[in-house]
Parts: sequence; structure tokens; C-alpha cells
Amino acid sequence: MVKVDLTGAKDFFDQIGPDFSKISDAHRTLFEGSGAGGEFTGWLTLPERILSDELKQIQAASSRIRSNSQVLVVIGIGGSYLGARAAIELLRSPNYNLIEKDTPDIFFVGNSLSTAAITETIELIGDRDFSINIISKSGGTLEPALGFRVFKAMLEKKYGSAAKKRIYATTDANSGLLYDMAVSEGWERFVVPDDVGGRFSVLSAVGLLPMAVAGIDIETLLRCAVEDMRELGLISAENPAWQYAGARQHLYMLGKTTEVLACYEPSFRFMAEWWKQLFGESEGKNGVGIFPAYLEYPADLHSMGQYVQDGPRRLFETVCLFEEANEDLKIPFELGDRDGLNYLAGKDFDAVSKVISKAVSEAHIKGDVPNILISVPKRDEEGLSKLICFFQVSCGLSAYAMGVNPFNQPGVEEYKSGMFRMLGRS
Ligand code: PA5
Repeated sequence: MVKVDLTGAKDFFDQIGPDFSKISDAHRTLFEGSGAGGEFTGWLTLPERILSDELKQIQAASSRIRSNSQVLVVIGIGGSYLGARAAIELLRSPNYNLIEKDTPDIFFVGNSLSTAAITETIELIGDRDFSINIISKSGGTLEPALGFRVFKAMLEKKYGSAAKKRIYATTDANSGLLYDMAVSEGWERFVVPDDVGGRFSVLSAVGLLPMAVAGIDIETLLRCAVEDMRELGLISAENPAWQYAGARQHLYMLGKTTEVLACYEPSFRFMAEWWKQLFGESEGKNGVGIFPAYLEYPADLHSMGQYVQDGPRRLFETVCLFEEANEDLKIPFELGDRDGLNYLAGKDFDAVSKVISKAVSEAHIKGDVPNILISVPKRDEEGLSKLICFFQVSCGLSAYAMGVNPFNQPGVEEYKSGMFRMLGRS
């Protein structure tokens, strides 16, 4: 399990820590599916369902893409791309397309309408063989739909009628514009289950197909997730999701309205983007909700560290650490010690990073910033599963404890009506 250490926030709790009464009610509501949006709690059992159902199809499609394509274009926005990108950056590399590998490059498009970004992706694909994974649960989201037009046209120009064998559509099981197109064109289809909303769909084909193409062992990921979901179902103050959700609630009630998630791994950046959407879209409604922000340390200590240490005291900090580094790298010894750093020579970079993280947390705690520490064993499939399951369950608990439906996003619709009116949709 993920470990949660609340020692750095203890001054903000009474002697026994956060009050779990609301969290234990929220737990029942979430796991029984009895609360608002309860019909969207299917992600709790998603790993076992995929293992016994779609896994083989996803693996077969990923092998085909890996054998006939040098590039996979993943088209989606929000919950339809962040999880896959997070997993690929965390487990493979934030520079995935630049590293030497035997898997295709992956470009994520459809999350912006930037002419520069779209044009650049077309140029980067060049004349290489490619396939498309279009992902949209509703099947009608404007940004990915427009991106799809562009890259589908490019695919059809290159492959003619054979293009249809290179389009993989991940969408609703029975309806929607994308579903209709996929059926009539004969594209291979994958399902976003009815009982799973976009931002909770990373362990469905939405996240798994791009991950498998990138060489992530999705079967191991799913097997770990079955176990992790089972453990997170524990009705106990020892449950790490209870501790995290309970601490968040408690700190929010004390006026800590911003949560800064911090990590010392650059490869964590998109995991944090996924986390931001998960918590921001699930909790921020009806005038309540913690604002989720991300800082990458130590880089951001030299830009935002001042604010965290000394700005308005409305923040709490959640630090995510990986206990073990995936690589060994020692600080070299230098003859003459002109930079005065030989006192660190022979030490592991990771050990130094861990010491810095302790010093940072200590300073921020002194500056009245409550500190929650989350530790995960390693950046591998097991660690990824722990993070995904832990954050998803914590998010459900936290939103229910706040009295909101974690599974809708009515506010997101607001801009869409204006957008379609201004664009002249009839
Ligand atoms: O969590 C959500 O439901 C949203 O963020 C969606 O994932 C996002 O809006 C994309 O929607 P769709 O997959 O329908 O294109």
C-alpha cells in the first residue's frame, strides 16, 4: 500500500489525528454506490473486469500497432489522455519520444487547438508509418474531434482505404458520434464502460492501450490494481486513503484551501496533471473544494519556494516520494575539490535528494504549512497501480465527505454553450 505519514501536519490535529467519522460515512457511500453519482463507481472493480474481458484485445491491438507503426497518435482531452500520458512519462520517460526504444513514438493531440502544436506534430510524424487511437467517451468533444479530422485525413491520404485498419476508437459501448462512425467505418473499438467517468478511466482501454503500445506491462498493472483496490476497501483508520482524505478535510476546515502536491521526480509531472483533474473536477463544485496545485522540487523551490514558505497561510503540502530510485548514480569525486563538494562525493544522488526533501519539509512545517507525506516503493507498474488506486479512492472519499457528487462536472458545460454559439453551430 501507499504509505501516508501525517507527522508533518500533527500540530494542526488534536492528539488523535484527523476525525474519521465523515470519512467512514463517505467510505460506505462510495463502496456501496449509494451516494450521488453512485452509478459511476464502476472503476472500483474495473481492473478485475478488464483482466477477464478486454485485456487480450488491448494486448493484441498494441502488438499490431507496435509492429506496423513507428508512431501512435493518441487523440483525447482531460480524462481521455492524462492518465495514459502520466503512466508513460512516469514509467518510461518524460522524454519518451527521444529515448532509444523498440516501441513507437507517441504524440498526444486533441488537447489543444494550437496551430503551432498541430502543425509541429504533423511535421514530427513526417512520412513515418502511424496509427491513431481516438479516445472520447461522449464521442463529441470539440477539441479531440477537430484533431481527429486533421490526423484522419492525413492517415487516409497516406493509406487510402487501408487507413481504417489503423484507427482504434475508444468510446461509449453503444452510442455517440464516435461510436456511430467507428461502427459504420469498421474501426476497431474499445469501450469506456458506462459506470466509469472520464477522469476515473485510466485503468480501462482509455489508458491501457497507449500504455501497452509504450511497453508498459498492463497485465501486471491490473493485477496489482485488483489487490490495491481490495486493500483500499478496508474500513479502518489504517487505510491510507482514509488518512489522506481525512487530513485534507480537516485542513480544509481550518482554512487551508490550496493543496500543493510536490514531487522530486520530473517524470511525475503528468501524474500531477492527472491528479489535478481528478481532484479539481471531482471536488470543486457548489462553492467548495480544495484548489489542487503542483510544484516540481527542487526546481520550483527556486521560483515558488518563497511563496510556500512565506506567503498567505492557506496552503498545505502533500509530498510524494519514491522510496527506491530506479537507477544508481553517485556524485563523482573531484581532485582539488575546487567546488567544495567532495564532502558529498560517493553519495547517491537519490540519497541527497531525500535529505533535501526532509530539509524542505522541515522548513515548510516551521513556516506553518502542514505537510502530508505519501511514499510509494518504486516507479514501476506496482507503484503506478498504488498511486492510481490510492488517489482515486481518496478522491471519492474526500468529495463525499465535502458533500459533493465526485462524478459529475456540471461547471465544465458552461463554456461549451457559449463556444458553440460563437462558433455558429446550428
Ligand atoms: O472526467 C471527465 O469526464 C472529463 O474530463 C472528460 O474526460 C473530458 O471532458 C473528455 O471527455 P470525452 O472523453 O467525452 O471526450
